[in-house]
Amino acid sequence: MAEIKTIGVLTSGGDAPGMNATIRAVVRSALAKGIKVMGIRRGYVGLINEDIFEMDLRSVSDIIHRGGTVLYTARCPEFKTEEGMQKAIETCKKFGIDGCVVIGGDGSYRGARDLSLRGIPCVGLPGTIDNDIACTDYTIGFDTAMNTAVEMIDRLRDTAQSHERCSICEVMGRNAGYLALHTGIAAGATAILVPEVEFKVEDIIEKIKRSEKTGKEHFIIVVAEGVGGVDELAKKIEAETGIESRATILGHVQRGGNASVRDRVMASVMGHAAVQLLSKGIGNRVIALQHDKIVDFDIFEALQMKKDFEYDLYEIANEIGV
Ligand code: ADP
Ligand code: F6P
Repeated sequence: MAEIKTIGVLTSGGDAPGMNATIRAVVRSALAKGIKVMGIRRGYVGLINEDIFEMDLRSVSDIIHRGGTVLYTARCPEFKTEEGMQKAIETCKKFGIDGCVVIGGDGSYRGARDLSLRGIPCVGLPGTIDNDIACTDYTIGFDTAMNTAVEMIDRLRDTAQSHERCSICEVMGRNAGYLALHTGIAAGATAILVPEVEFKVEDIIEKIKRSEKTGKEHFIIVVAEGVGGVDELAKKIEAETGIESRATILGHVQRGGNASVRDRVMASVMGHAAVQLLSKGIGNRVIALQHDKIVDFDIFEALQMKKDFEYDLYEIANEIGV
């Protein structure tokens, strides 16, 4: 295995709180091993456009807490073409980059796999608020996003309580319901609608009516963006129950804000682990958390894995959200 003297680090896909703490960990861990670090701006775009600069200990000062990413992020369709990929490899050669740390979701992992296959060993780190990467129990950004969403829904609850309304809130998660499920259970939702579980609107309406009969005066319904349709749902609930209903789409507020303790710690530990692999010349791997242990997998295998939905947690939420 060739010795790795210089690594590149980039953030790609949707940003997530904790990406900055991850960059910091990667830079500091690499420098501690005598490895030079090049920051690549705007994900794979920077590899194609040569938007690259050397990072030192102080270039990651004062960022551990901040949401967003100081390296910027982007989606880069050109990188999926052979021409774009070759350009990226030429850039790596030009800047002496022998390996890369890619912080992002599974789309970004596919790019990292393709680079690894073409001779630039990469290690992927899970950075997305969606927690939808199959090989890992946890993705950096999930905790902060959940806490932000719950804080927002607590506010919705205040106004729903005073108006005796039903508040229907859409949370992010792309095609996955993990963020909605955890947010919903923590916010005390009467119903949580996720793409992984089929539901009938009639059943939700019946549940609201049953709860109303027991004296419940206001209602929170959490809907994953993969289900959508919150405006229509609000209209239907209001029409069928007579309870005034309002829909809110939380949107990108969930992506910003200072990273939580959990995200900062996970970022630090995972970022460090990525550098340990690369420093041994090992690439084409992703870092993951499984049963509270940091592990790593071959990227190709990681991308084949399927993630279980937490049906038990969903059942608990359903039973106690009455
Ligand atoms: P995420 O990493 O959050 O899942 P995307 O799916 O948008 O986000 O992927 C981020 C970037 O990763 C894409 O813009 C593209 O540059 C790269 N990428 C995604 N899929 C592939 C692929 N199949 N092959 C190569 N690169 C890819
Ligand atoms: O993957 C993170 C995420 O925030 C998803 O939850 C959401 O579907 C998507 O990114 C939104 O992407 P954009 O920032 O391009 O609107």
